Amino acid sequence: MPVRKPVLDPPFNVVRASHVELGVRDLGRSRAFYVDCLGLLVSDETEDALYLRAVEERNHHSIVLHRSHEPAVHALGFKIASEEDLDRAAFWFGRKNLPVSFRELPHQGRTLRTTDIFGMPLDLYFRMEQAERMLQKYAAYQGARIQRIDHLNCFTPDVQASYDFYSDIGFRLTEYTETDDPDPQLWAVWLHRKGNVHDLAFTNGSGPRLHHIGVWTASTLDILHICDVMATSGYLANMERGPGRHGISNAFFLYVRDPDGHRVELFTSDYLTVDPDLEPIRWSLRDPQRQTLWGHPAPKSWFEEGSVFPGVALREPALAAQPIVAR
Ligand SMILES: [Fe+2]
Repeated sequence: MPVRKPVLDPPFNVVRASHVELGVRDLGRSRAFYVDCLGLLVSDETEDALYLRAVEERNHHSIVLHRSHEPAVHALGFKIASEEDLDRAAFWFGRKNLPVSFRELPHQGRTLRTTDIFGMPLDLYFRMEQAERMLQKYAAYQGARIQRIDHLNCFTPDVQASYDFYSDIGFRLTEYTETDDPDPQLWAVWLHRKGNVHDLAFTNGSGPRLHHIGVWTASTLDILHICDVMATSGYLANMERGPGRHGISNAFFLYVRDPDGHRVELFTSDYLTVDPDLEPIRWSLRDPQRQTLWGHPAPKSWFEEGSVFPGVALREPALAAQPIVAR
């Protein structure tokens, strides 16, 4: 059976997906996109980096942009429940013969850099510098009025292996897609720690690569508004898919591409998943309402394009099953 029972007493306690570190070629161009258009707040800015957060976030940053020769993803960040949990995490990853090192990062403190089984760089930490509370400074709400980071979605060459790995450290399955074979194969999984549909999702594809960052908006109207803004301010070509409503997760969405091709999903209105006996929802890969409840298939680029982790070898997936593609 590809679907397992959740691990409710994991070896260390992951709180949630908390941030991502992206390499971008032109910080000014990225600032125009993330700050002036999407409306993220600048927590700090140096010659080589831009630290961004959304209006609800007390953590200093949820998206860090580093000046880089090529577009890249340097780390996926997860908040851990305590310094002791962080030490337990280092022990656990070390026993799996995965690389383990501690470093002090700006605004973030003691950070464990490790990887998963496919080499995806993970930054685990407990304490981050706290920023000014902006939730009730409504004049600061701009663009898509983004509230917080919600999830990270990645391509993996082996969904079952990634699912097994993250299940072992307490990520719980909420929804999944599988083939309709007599011996069904997992094609995608949605895994959570914080109590909504996902903190981390995996889709079958050449990987590991980051497929997208999901950021939360308070309402569907914020997403419709940013469609109008992008369509009339030079960002029409950056709108890749949507707006629409996912079958999986029930979320309302819009996918946009930043100036380096990094994909961001504006996302809202999924649901609560904290119950430990929550039954995961199964979707067939051939169900046209899986991707979009309204039946519209996703474009080819959405299944093929993603952001690479520098120095991490890509592997092609063993599973050849094809989803429904629009063009
Ligand atoms: Fe997403």
